[in-house]
Amino acid sequence: MSRTVVVSGGGTGIGLAVAARFAKDDNVILVGRREDVLASAAAELGANASYVAADLATVEGAERLASFTADRHGSVDVIAACAGGNTLRSGDGLAAVSQAWTENLRLNVMTAVHLVEALKPQLNDDGRVLLYSSVAAYRGSGNGSYAASKAALHPYAIDLATELGPKRITANVIAPGYIEDTEFFGDRMTETRRSTLIGQTLNGRAGTPADIAELSHWLAAPAAGHVTAQIIQSNGGALAGR
Ligand SMILES: NC(=O)c1ccc[n+]([C@@H]2O[C@H](COP(=O)([O-])OP(=O)(O)OC[C@H]3O[C@@H](n4cnc5c(N)ncnc54)[C@H](OP(=O)(O)O)[C@@H]3O)[C@@H](O)[C@H]2O)c1
Repeated sequence: MSRTVVVSGGGTGIGLAVAARFAKDDNVILVGRREDVLASAAAELGANASYVAADLATVEGAERLASFTADRHGSVDVIAACAGGNTLRSGDGLAAVSQAWTENLRLNVMTAVHLVEALKPQLNDDGRVLLYSSVAAYRGSGNGSYAASKAALHPYAIDLATELGPKRITANVIAPGYIEDTEFFGDRMTETRRSTLIGQTLNGRAGTPADIAELSHWLAAPAAGHVTAQIIQSNGGALAGR
């Protein structure tokens, strides 16, 4: 039986790959802020895909999404909270530091919290909650705020797993290392930095959105029903380093 899967950030990068993996068998709902990006992603995925344009950093956006899933599907089986990103500091003063921290907490923590909490009442038994952190949560991100915002998701998943465990709903975090072919780095990736990041892996390659999509799909399978409250890293061993 096909499931209902909500993927935030589903229009690009990791979220799009996750949505594409589930869309082979399940109904997927893509969520993001840019309607044109979502429309073309949904068209690419075919009849199993629909979308809602919503800013999940806001309560209103999450509530609109929840109304859509309730009206159209009645319930939800899998929540994949891929939306996120790294807002860099725009200057040196305290105001700039404060703004970057606030933005990163909104972008990485509140988008996930609003999504999960808005859909929680619709989650079916045996459902799945997937949060997306980063290797940065373990080793920092240079600006503090991105890494800290990702680390905040780890105890949130543990509390969700505790709360939802009696319904056999699992909650886990995937923490990717460097993943290519996303919008995450914008125009900030240089060849030198790319080589450094790949050089930190033990298998000598960048991660791909498909790596994360396959892991997400497995965590949502019945076979993974006893895996919950875990933070699972997919980074080619980069944290261990050489
Ligand atoms: N790429 C990497 O190397 C890497 C490594 C570790 C972790 N990650 C994490 O993986 C996740 C996916 O990122 P990605 O690499 O696939 O980058 P991406 O292509 O930039 O994807 C981020 C997605 O989040 C959506 N989004 C951002 N803010 C939103 C909001 N307020 N409401 C709704 N949707 C929002 C964006 O769409 P709109 O702009 O249209 O809203 C976009 O589709 C992120 O959480 C990121 O932190 C990435």
